[in-house]
Formats: sequence, C-alpha cells, structure tokens
Amino acid sequence: MDIATDHNAQMRTNPVFQTAKTAVCLMAKADIPDSSAIVHALGVKEDEVLQSMADPDILLGNALVVETKYRTMCSLIKASGYHTCADLPCGYTPKALRLTEGGIRFIGLDLPIVADEMEPVIRSLATHPERMSFYGVDATNLESLVSALRNENQPLCITTEGMMMYFNESEVNTVISNIRSILEIHGGSWITPDPEFMLQFFGSFRSVFGERFLEKLATTKVAAKEQSDVSNLCNSFILNPADALGSAGTAEETLRKHGLKVEKINLAEHMPTLNIYRQLTQHQISNFKEEMKQCHYWAITLDGTQERQNHERIQDKVPFDMRCSIENNVFQVSLCGRLDSLTAPSLLTAWEHAKDTNTINRIEIDCSMLYYITSAGVRVLLILQEGCEFGVTLNAVNCHIDKMLTQKQFTKISLQQPS
Ligand SMILES: C[S@@+](CC[C@H](N)C(=O)[O-])C[C@H]1O[C@@H](n2cnc3c(N)ncnc32)[C@H](O)[C@@H]1O
Repeated sequence: MDIATDHNAQMRTNPVFQTAKTAVCLMAKADIPDSSAIVHALGVKEDEVLQSMADPDILLGNALVVETKYRTMCSLIKASGYHTCADLPCGYTPKALRLTEGGIRFIGLDLPIVADEMEPVIRSLATHPERMSFYGVDATNLESLVSALRNENQPLCITTEGMMMYFNESEVNTVISNIRSILEIHGGSWITPDPEFMLQFFGSFRSVFGERFLEKLATTKVAAKEQSDVSNLCNSFILNPADALGSAGTAEETLRKHGLKVEKINLAEHMPTLNIYRQLTQHQISNFKEEMKQCHYWAITLDGTQERQNHERIQDKVPFDMRCSIENNVFQVSLCGRLDSLTAPSLLTAWEHAKDTNTINRIEIDCSMLYYITSAGVRVLLILQEGCEFGVTLNAVNCHIDKMLTQKQFTKISLQQPS
C-alpha cells in the first residue's frame, strides 16, 4: 500500500484529528510550556489553524477553556496517586512531558494519524522518553485498546479530554463499554471533563463576555462542527446546559448501565492559577472562579454493586478482513469484522486504487460478515458513493449498520436485508 495515499486516506476518514491541532495552538496562545515547541515541530501554521477564531475574544475564550482543562487534568492525574496515565485521546498536548518529568508513566492513545505524528515530536522534547509510549487506536475498537495496554501491570489513570462529544449514541456506548473492560483488566479510574464540557464553555464565556457570550459561543460551535464533521456534539454522556440536572441524570444512568459509578470533582476547587488570567480583568477572573463552581470533572470507577449489561459483542471477536475484485466494471468488496477509524482507510485506499486503474461504474459491498460500523466507516462509504457513477449497493446489512446509515441520511445506498 502506498504510504502517501494511506496518510491521505486516514485524514479524510478522520477529519476530527484536526481538532487536536487547534487545541495545541490554543495552548501555545495560553503560554503553556512546550506547546509552542510542539506546534513548531509539527510544522503547524498557527494562524491558519486558528483562522476560524479571528475574533480575539473568541480566541481568548477558547484559550481560557483549554488552559483550564489542561492544567486541572495534569494536577488531578498527579493527585490521583496512580503511576501510569493512559491518555485517550492524547492529541498533541505536552502532557506526556509534564507527567513523565514527575515520574508518571505516560501512554498516549489516539488515532494512528495522531499517535504516529506525535511520538517523534514529543520524544525529541522529552527528558524521560523511556517513560512514554504511543499507540494508534480507535476508542470504539476494544481490541486496539487491549493490545496497546497489554504490557501494563499497574492500575491506570485513564484520561479523556475532548473526545466523547464527537461520538454518536452507538459509538459513545461502545467507548464507555470499552473503558469499563479496560478498568476490569487493569483496575484504576477514568477521569474526564467531557460530560460537562458545555457547562464549562458556557460558564467561561459568560464570565468574560457577559451578555454577549451566546453570540461568541455560536461561532466556536460552528468551528468545532466544521473541523470534526460531526453534526451535533451531543449524546447521552454529555450534559445539556438547558437541562443540566436532567441530562446529568441521563449520563449517570448511562454509566450505571455499564456497571460504572461517578464521583464529581468540583472544578473551582481544583483548578490551578492560569497564565491566561494575565489577559483578564480582576472582575472577569472573579466571575470566572464563581462560574467554575458549577462545573465538575468526573472520576469514574467500576461499581461493584452493578451487573454489567450486554458486554458480549461479536464485533470484538471477528478480525477485520477485506476482499476486493473487479468484474464487468463492478468493484466488488466483501467486508468482515468492523469498519472503523482503523480499517476504513484501507477501503478508501483500495477503492481509489481500483478506480485509478480501471473503469468502474458500480460498487457492490457484501456486508454479511460486517458486524459494526462507525461514523468513520460511514464517511468512507459516502466518499465511495459520491465517486461512483451508479453508486454503492450494500448487501445483507445488519440492523446496527442499517441504523448508522439511516442516521447519516444514506438514502441513496440500496440495502438488502438478510432474509
Ligand atoms: C479535541 S482533540 C483533544 C485532544 C487532546 N486530548 C487535547 O486535549 O488536546 C480530539 C481528539 O480525539 C481524537 N479522537 C477522535 N475520535 C477518536 C477515536 N475514535 N479513537 C481515538 N481517538 C479519537 C482525535 O484524533 C483528537 O486527537
């Protein structure tokens, strides 16, 4: 397989990885140590990445949120007492440097396109590269997580910062179930600001911009959706500021179904002093501290009193396989296992190779052995659909795949349910 095409295929399958570049550029704006060096080593052009935040107010509001999360999470990880942090997703932050300097082992887990790019950059800046490892995973793919962590023999502090909002309902439940499995194998705790990320955004923007905060937030939301190609940034794990209490109940119930329980850590009581305060007035800082009293980061652990529901999954047992052939100008594919962030780029690469070397006017995909699909897989099917004159026919799709395709308004693909 041609590597350049593979990298390109990964980018198009997972546009969400770009959000991590925005995050590290915002960290550089907040003067977080080493973030400018990472931006430079990645060859990222800060102004291009942050162009959707041309308004300095929006830049300031976002940098405030990002610095609060980064510094508070680093301090919570250290305070947790665990000696190993599994950061899912690690993005491009300097967290690996800070934690390993403090004697903590760091395992960076992210989509392969991020992990592969991040590892050499962070190692080149590290005093203790031997304390860190990086792996390409898909959080929805249990096998990839189990494999990345197979040599770890200490309980884990799993951290998730800025990922859960990008999943749809089916994916978020798969990811929570996977983290539950990892906690069962290794022990430890899962710490995340994600359930209350919108509350944190609302409170931060309100404290700095007063009545104009909703207008400033709207621009931020559009930028996040555009970058990630995700339509709504919400699911049953994410609290809705319009119904914080009700949606918190829903998120806790979601965790309970997976045999997990939550302890809420008050943000105002745990956030360190921020660099970005230098850009705020005393009045804004005290508003901000007051607002953050309403926000929590969640520390999630196994609930020994709860039975786990539905944890046997065929998708975890069947390895991915793909067979392709071309007959009478029809590109025929048979898929087996999961079509996700890890596997979908190979379908895209195979299709582009086929169409560059043959005349193809139709695509037929046998899905009788395809058990699970994520948004990344659906995105690739859409690219195939758009690039082929008579479109894609999917044969023998199961109910899960049918539902995923319907959610993405896949009306043009013809479905043939197994009889
Ligand atoms: C907003 S960034 C956050 C990164 C980092 N935690 C930070 O705070 O800057 C979102 C990250 O989620 C990662 N991501 C999205 N979907 C993922 C998946 N299915 N599996 C693993 N990582 C994923 C992206 O690659 C990206 O690095």
